[in-house]
Amino acid sequence: MDPVTESLNEVHRRLSGLREGQVADYIPQLATADPDDFGLALVSMAGHAYRAGKADVPFSIQSVSKPFVYALALSDLGFEEVRRRVGVEPSGNPFNAISLEPDTGRPANPMINAGAIATTALVRADGPAERFHRILACLSAFAGRPLDVDEEVYASEAATGDRNRALAYLMHSAGSLRAGPEETVDTYFRQCSVRVTAGDLAVMAATLANGGRNPVTGVQVVAEPDVVRTLAVMATCGMYDGAGEWLLDVGLPAKSGVSGGLIAASPARFGVAVYSPPLDASGNPVRAVAALGEMSKRFGLHIM
Ligand code: DON
Repeated sequence: MDPVTESLNEVHRRLSGLREGQVADYIPQLATADPDDFGLALVSMAGHAYRAGKADVPFSIQSVSKPFVYALALSDLGFEEVRRRVGVEPSGNPFNAISLEPDTGRPANPMINAGAIATTALVRADGPAERFHRILACLSAFAGRPLDVDEEVYASEAATGDRNRALAYLMHSAGSLRAGPEETVDTYFRQCSVRVTAGDLAVMAATLANGGRNPVTGVQVVAEPDVVRTLAVMATCGMYDGAGEWLLDVGLPAKSGVSGGLIAASPARFGVAVYSPPLDASGNPVRAVAALGEMSKRFGLHIM
């Protein structure tokens, strides 16, 4: 067995028994996840994939979609125009908080729900169908294969997403949402329901680590300057109100999601992804945070 797979297997073995955290249930369909599912995947800049545990179990991407859609909005509109509408400062608040500037209604950053909803509305399109089509095509290009939507998760999010609707209406009333609130949250719910595996997410993270070029397919998905900005925002805001501790302990740009997915990018080295549904109080997957902490120490990954 190669040394990378051996290390992933060892981290998997050591953390399989960790029984902390709660599976998210505010979206009812997410509560059906198996708390014992645990998979790790790593993709190198040469496009080699390494896996341990359940790296092929499908789950909805949720907030891990946010950096990729931000990169798409950056490539559509340019950084200055996007920054005028979505900030780049950590909010220090939970992911679903009303973190909007009082005068402008501009959300704090694209990694919290308000900012992600505003970012979805920025993706260039003639209407919501084309907007979602472009988002799905972008996520698929990052993953290097055609992705699809988990319709059950989508229906469950749409049925229980009043808080996100409220955020969209608040931004719309302040003039900071570029499309209609209902169509935008619907697109955002679809975006969050796109089905991936830890193996897919590792390719997506590796594409960020590789300056926007998918190391498996060779496709340049977004331009390098937009990836650099995306990684910077992930570093400061990707782990919500746990972002400071994360940067201190692990030291890599990362993004987590409520279904239990987490990506981290080691620029010019590799992308890594973990799937494990139980979450800590900030909404970050417990085993994934522990796994990246171990890997960072073992391989000296801290960027500082
Ligand atoms: O907006 C929501 O509540 C979910 N669709 C996504 C949130 C999410 O993944 C936040 N992550 N920790």
